[in-house]
Amino acid sequence: MSSRVKVVVTGAAGQITYSLIPRLLDGKTFGNKIVDLVMVEIPQVVSKLEGVLMELEDSSFPNMGSVEYTDNFADAAKDADWFLLVGSIPRGIVYEGKKIEERSDLLRINGGIFVNQGEAIGKYGKKDAKILVVGNPANTNALIGQNASGVNSQLWMAMTMLDCNRAKSVISKKVQCSIEEVKKMIIWGNHSPTMYPDIENAIVNNSSVGSLVNDMEWVDKTFLPTVQQRGKAVIDARGASSATSAAKAALDTIIACENPTGDGDCFSAAVASDGAYGVPEGLICGYPLMTMEDGSVEIIRDISLSNFAKEKFDISIAELESEREAVKDLL
Ligand SMILES: NC(=O)c1ccc[n+]([C@@H]2O[C@H](COP(=O)([O-])OP(=O)(O)OC[C@H]3O[C@@H](n4cnc5c(N)ncnc54)[C@H](O)[C@@H]3O)[C@@H](O)[C@H]2O)c1
Repeated sequence: MSSRVKVVVTGAAGQITYSLIPRLLDGKTFGNKIVDLVMVEIPQVVSKLEGVLMELEDSSFPNMGSVEYTDNFADAAKDADWFLLVGSIPRGIVYEGKKIEERSDLLRINGGIFVNQGEAIGKYGKKDAKILVVGNPANTNALIGQNASGVNSQLWMAMTMLDCNRAKSVISKKVQCSIEEVKKMIIWGNHSPTMYPDIENAIVNNSSVGSLVNDMEWVDKTFLPTVQQRGKAVIDARGASSATSAAKAALDTIIACENPTGDGDCFSAAVASDGAYGVPEGLICGYPLMTMEDGSVEIIRDISLSNFAKEKFDISIAELESEREAVKDLL
């Protein structure tokens, strides 16, 4: 295995990346590998990355290789192993005089970015590159990017790890266990308020969390809305979207992909459906995943879903289909 890894990060002068980028270099995320980093921004703010670069140099990170910054994504993409596509316009900010709160606005504004980035990743990225889309609407941005890349051997993912971590936090408080004891926390569907965090298949000490809680009223009326609406709750409280928790979730996703998944566990991210669990082919859908010994990432296919779960999952699938319809001119 290569002892170096090249990582491209977009939105590198943003909130999430201020927390994310340093931790790519600290020797924990990529183990012993030396990280060659390219930070990408839009031309209007790319000069700020000189300051980020200075801070990285001043931090004495043990695994820092070459660090560059640019506003040219195609240049950045050459031979990259990992792409962290964070750059986009977040919900809640004022853009062209209008407060961006609706997903439809996000789809329109952000979709175009991912056509160009997808093409460049297909053309210049490594053929086994892994791509994690964080910028919202993450699933549909990933759909657009993957479609534009045209390279099937690259792995496109949209991030649902933050939703997974949020669900684990609520569960650990409810059943009084540590976060590490919560396993198999699956986020089905879209990274949006329709996502389905699957409490019935989550386990703590080999028991289903659904049966430990044994209160479907609490699941339906408290657990699901708390996890599904957590992004909005953070925006309402902080006046800005989740940043440090989103950065941690991106790091957790990388670590999950870089190391074989432990027995009886899985990790959450959205990947292209091949029809698994009845999801229309091609949609980028939240699934239970595992990383194999050879580094490939597979959908786990033997999870049972209750009627309650199927009903909720179907709502999220319908939303993904409607988002695909809304961007069909970009596909
Ligand atoms: N998937 C998740 O769980 C999750 C969680 C939180 C936030 N998000 C999303 O992550 C994105 C970033 O959030 P943030 O708080 O860091 O926003 P931010 O506004 O602080 O930073 C975004 C940065 O992206 C840059 N950018 C925009 N278009 C770009 C492009 N084409 N190429 C390179 N850079 C570009 C902007 O200049 C800006 O610096 C938002 O879309 C937000 O909704 C996703």
